[in-house]
Amino acid sequence: MWRVVFSVAALLCAFPSALAIKNPIISGWNPDPSILRVGNEYYIATSSFEYFPGVPIYKSTDLANWELFSHALATPEHVQLYGVPTGAGVWAPTLSYIDGRFYLASMTRWTYDPVARVWPRVFFQSSEDLIHCLFLDPVSNKTYLNLMAPNNNFDRLWGIYQCEVSLKTGNCIGEYISLWNGTLPHNSSARDEGPKMFYKNDFYYLLIAEGGTDDLHRATIARSASPSGPWTPNPNNPILFNGAYGFDNLTVQSTGHATFVETPSGDWYAAFLARRKINGSSPLGRETFLTTVTWDDNDWPVLNGGKPILLSESFGSAKDQKYPPAPFKDDFSQGALDPSWYQLRVPYTDNYEIGISSCHDTTQKWCGATPQSGITFAPNVFGLSDRDVPAAILRKQKSLNMTFSATLLPTTGLSLSYLQSVGISVYLSEFEHQDIGIRGCVNGTGMCIYTSVIMNTTAINNYVPLNSSVIPENTILHIRATPLTYSLGYSIGQSPISWMEEIASSWLAFAPANFFVFEGASFALFASGNGNPWPWDAPTVGFKEVNEVYFEENIPDHDIWT
Ligand SMILES: *[C@@H]1O[C@H](CO)[C@@H](O)[C@H](O)[C@H]1NC(C)=O
Ligand SMILES: *[C@@H]1O[C@H](CO)[C@@H](O)[C@H](O)[C@H]1NC(C)=O
Ligand SMILES: *[C@@H]1O[C@H](CO)[C@@H](O)[C@H](O)[C@H]1NC(C)=O
Ligand SMILES: *[C@@H]1O[C@H](CO)[C@@H](O)[C@H](O)[C@H]1NC(C)=O
Ligand SMILES: *[C@@H]1O[C@H](CO)[C@@H](O)[C@H](O)[C@H]1NC(C)=O
Ligand SMILES: *[C@@H]1O[C@H](CO)[C@@H](O)[C@H](O)[C@H]1NC(C)=O
Ligand SMILES: *[C@@H]1O[C@H](CO)[C@@H](O)[C@H](O)[C@H]1NC(C)=O
Ligand SMILES: *[C@@H]1O[C@H](CO)[C@@H](O)[C@H](O)[C@H]1NC(C)=O
Ligand SMILES: *[C@@H]1O[C@H](CO)[C@@H](O)[C@H](O)[C@H]1NC(C)=O
Repeated sequence: MWRVVFSVAALLCAFPSALAIKNPIISGWNPDPSILRVGNEYYIATSSFEYFPGVPIYKSTDLANWELFSHALATPEHVQLYGVPTGAGVWAPTLSYIDGRFYLASMTRWTYDPVARVWPRVFFQSSEDLIHCLFLDPVSNKTYLNLMAPNNNFDRLWGIYQCEVSLKTGNCIGEYISLWNGTLPHNSSARDEGPKMFYKNDFYYLLIAEGGTDDLHRATIARSASPSGPWTPNPNNPILFNGAYGFDNLTVQSTGHATFVETPSGDWYAAFLARRKINGSSPLGRETFLTTVTWDDNDWPVLNGGKPILLSESFGSAKDQKYPPAPFKDDFSQGALDPSWYQLRVPYTDNYEIGISSCHDTTQKWCGATPQSGITFAPNVFGLSDRDVPAAILRKQKSLNMTFSATLLPTTGLSLSYLQSVGISVYLSEFEHQDIGIRGCVNGTGMCIYTSVIMNTTAINNYVPLNSSVIPENTILHIRATPLTYSLGYSIGQSPISWMEEIASSWLAFAPANFFVFEGASFALFASGNGNPWPWDAPTVGFKEVNEVYFEENIPDHDIWT
């Protein structure tokens, strides 16, 4: 099943321009990376929250270049996300490889509402059994479940817990014990999480994240002669914590949630999450980073030589991996949606179709006279502000300096009225998304190009008359993302882009009071009836193609912008 792969030396010979490793290794929001090597191939699984399909798995053979390989939770039976708020959903997967099979352990959080008090469900594969990080003890051959759990239902002090587990039933078959409470004062903000266990030179190591995923986030480690402790913490903890230099100092912050991997030649690396702070906020959220691990004289791990993580640093001897990456283009002609597109929560109706034969309306149709490929939506009552499943597909924003452009399918026949909208968005959550699209003009006749920007849950709308009763050919909606701003614009035919709105990127980087946003920005294509069903005689709407162009990202090592 596994491809025969070259050794690293052979790879360097075959491809002389081999690439060094530069951070982030997986750009765009991809937190809680769990890295695993099987043979000469590396895999990383990351959290997916309320996005579907769940848990992307990336693959690499050189640690520098990663491609989206698959999704672990690809059908609604695998993951239930009905009505979950932003930031809930699927958290912190862990990959293991045991007796020739991959295991993915993760959990779903349906709400963090303090009234509902719904407990997270820990599971592996499609089972609902209580298994989180799985550790196969190479000495005893027992498999342990290590998980983050509260001490009881009253104090709710989180810590790392463990039991020996049956891979067949998912049941604990040994004592359920408190394993370690980490290095911080053990109160409700300590948040020990993400336990990763491994065995090296007669020691069991327990690597965890602490401090919560924001500024205080860090990686710490302890070790023991037994997989069940007692644990001796590393005297040099934390082993990864950019916040030690001040939360406003370095661009890279929130470093933590690490997993180690050893290459076939015996080098060690740590994959972890970090934010790139841009003038105090991080529109792309938490991305996947990598750094070197060396072992000191006492066999404790040292990350990045004990130095902070800097964007300007790359490692490996050859020149850096190619940046900016090649543009992305999708004309939806492939028969299946590109796997880099997501939907929100779990779609329970088919709300889009792709390809030439995708028209649902046989009378007035963009594809009637001149067939063209594209994506058409079957819009429902929901929009991007609803905690439901709007007719929308989303792609993670991969660069802090890029454009996202989408060409609308032309319409024929009736105009859209005010309640029918089709457009694009830079989307963070149901509370913060900045849209440009086409709908019926407010208080008027005809169609308008509109923008809707949301700042602290207040939407500000702008309208420009389209001066056409149909969406013309070659109408393109544009979002220009820079580190500090998003601009929304349109172009029709050969005309230059008209920019209608500019908004600070910091509006795409935080949650309103009482909510959490654990993702970063995505770009969306959407159509919506905005509270009403899409009228039976309204035109079919959709997009002909999407283009993303990436520019250089000169992001400074210190978060200083003037
Ligand atoms: C663990 O499994 C390995 C390989 O299957 C075997 O060689 C070894 O004897 C086993 N150890 C124990 C303690 O069962
Ligand atoms: C961790 O803290 C809990 C709650 O105070 C305590 O019951 C438990 O014994 C502690 N575990 C360890 C390993 O110290
Ligand atoms: C937990 O302890 C830390 C360190 O003493 C303190 O900064 C923090 O405010 C405490 N958090 C809570 C919820 O008590
Ligand atoms: C960042 O922190 C380092 C170490 O504490 C300090 O020397 C440096 O002046 C700080 N830089 C800024 C821009 O605050
Ligand atoms: C639409 O009309 C209503 C009622 O006359 C008015 O309050 C509102 O400001 C108008 N909206 C716009 C965008 O002109
Ligand atoms: C439609 O016409 C108005 C008035 O001339 C103009 O301001 C507006 O820019 C035109 N709309 C488009 C999309 O060109
Ligand atoms: C947005 O709302 C939050 C509270 O939800 C408040 O702390 C913040 O100051 C507001 N920001 C602006 C720019 O109004
Ligand atoms: C973004 O890309 C533009 C166009 O190439 C370039 O002029 C600008 O310097 C880049 N910005 C950053 C922060 O790298
Ligand atoms: C950085 O953010 C501050 C507010 O925190 C704002 O006043 C300032 O204009 C921003 N700087 C830039 C270059 O956008």
